[in-house]
This record gives sequence, C-alpha cells and structure tokens, in this order.
Amino acid sequence: MSEAKPTILKIGGSVITDKTGELTPKTEDINRIAEEIKRADMENLIVVHGGGSFGHPFAAKYGIKEGLKDPSQKTGFAETHHVMTVLNGLLMDALVWHELPALSITTSTCVMTENGRIKFFEDAIMRKCMEMGITPIMYGDAVLDDKMGFTVLSGDQLVAYLAVKLKARRIVIGVDTDGIYEADPKTNPEAKRYMHLTLEELKKVQSKLGKAQGTDVTGGMAGKIAELIPAVEAGIPVKIVNASRGQRILRALTEQQIEGTLIEKA
Ligand SMILES: Nc1ncnc2c1ncn2[C@@H]1O[C@H](COP(=O)(O)OP(=O)(O)O)[C@@H](O)[C@H]1O
Ligand SMILES: [Mg+2]
Repeated sequence: MSEAKPTILKIGGSVITDKTGELTPKTEDINRIAEEIKRADMENLIVVHGGGSFGHPFAAKYGIKEGLKDPSQKTGFAETHHVMTVLNGLLMDALVWHELPALSITTSTCVMTENGRIKFFEDAIMRKCMEMGITPIMYGDAVLDDKMGFTVLSGDQLVAYLAVKLKARRIVIGVDTDGIYEADPKTNPEAKRYMHLTLEELKKVQSKLGKAQGTDVTGGMAGKIAELIPAVEAGIPVKIVNASRGQRILRALTEQQIEGTLIEKA
C-alpha cells in the first residue's frame, strides 16, 4: 500500500477552456496537459479541474450557486452538472489515450455541502485509488446542499479540502497567468508578480486579487486564494503556475525550478 502523501494538482478552467465563450474546450491544451501529467510519472497524484466555459455559464444562467429558489432550476442543476461531465470526459479521453491509469470520481455523487461548504465526502473510492496507483480525477461541480438544495462547489474549495483531509504534501495550481500579481495582469500588463508569499504576506495582498476574465461564479483569483488559505495554514505549500504554457505543469509536478508564485505558511 502506498503511504506517501499525495500531491494535488488543480487544472484551471481558464486553461482547458476559453472562459469568454460557452462550451469552448481548448483541446490542444487538454491533450498537452494530459501528456505532461503522464510524463511526470507521479505515484500519489490527485487531479481536480475547474468548470471554465462549461460549468460557469450554466451555473450563472440558472442561479445554481444561490441555491434552490424555484423548481424550474432543477433542470438547470442537472444541466450544469451534465456539462461538467462532458468537460471531464474530454480530459479523461486525453488521459486514458496517454495511458494514464485514471478514474473519474463524480464530485456531485460523493460530496454534499451545507451552506456552500463541504460537509460530507465519501473518500473510500479515492483512498482505494491511491492505494492502487490509480489517479483520481475530480472537478468543481453543481452539488447537493443540505440547507440550500443545491449550490456550486468550486474546484478550489475541493482542492483545499482534499489537501487538508488527505494531508497532502503540496498543491500545484495551474492557471492562465504566471502566478499572483500585484493586480490582474490581464488588465494591468505592468503589474509585478510575487515569486514567494508567506501566509502573512498573502493576507496583506488579498485585497489586490481580482475576479476572472469571462464567467466565473466562484470569484476568480480572489475566490481561489480565499479557499486555499486553510490549506496553507495547515502547512501545505501551494505553487501557482501558468498551465497554459508548455512544460510548466510537468516541471512543477517534478519539483523543478519553475516560474510562478510559491505560498508557504512561513
Ligand atoms: N492579482 C492577480 N494575479 C493573477 N491573476 C489575477 C489577479 N487578479 C485577477 N486575476 C485573474 O484571475 C484569473 C484566474 O482565476 P480564474 O479565471 O478563476 O481561474 P480558474 O479558471 O483556474 O478558476 C486570471 O486569468 C486573471 O485574469
Ligand atoms: Mg475560478
């Protein structure tokens, strides 16, 4: 049985889809990332991906994050989850084609939230995967909520939750920027990147973090960092890298020198 602490990799929806569109996968990036994950040859890897232009526009259209207010939203809940399975299928296709032993774990049928926070997670399947050397793949999803009926669970909250629960060694976050900047680099090209942030420093720069470009119901970079703070507090380092550029995920997973932002507790 494998005892090593897992590494958790988040692949942003901003990387594998065009978030300014709707149902617009970036198939070349999906394929490249699958190849990089295979080449990294990790023993204890958990992958979580985001919703990008699949989950977010549908979640926004039906007000899924705000919970059940009208019975007509139920088909919207079903649709939001369904489009996530389509995006997940594209990534699974690429991973399996690259001969990675991977298993998709459907978030909405093993996680339940209470007022938007994970309350229940059935982890037996994931632990068995890890034991067998099979890479579990999860994603941000429309999930059932004990109080709200349903809501949106971000891949970012899921990453931090899994990291703390499974005592991860580290977290690698792949986005479409080179890390955390003083301001959104997409709208402020002059903004400087932070190479290293302690937890204390991160909390100071939190107010400078912005939303996403395109539709993102879970708050862009600001929402992402807010979710990751508990994992950093638990002593788990987080490296944010640009997964839209070749080799960055491979190099981050294999712990080679790589541009990005490293966040550590101290
Ligand atoms: N200070 C900042 N540093 C880096 N990126 C930022 C910042 N503020 C806002 N952003 C935006 O956050 C986006 C990443 O968040 P998001 O789109 O939610 O990623 P994901 O698709 O992984 O959820 C970047 O594309 C960038 O435009
Ligand atoms: Mg996001």
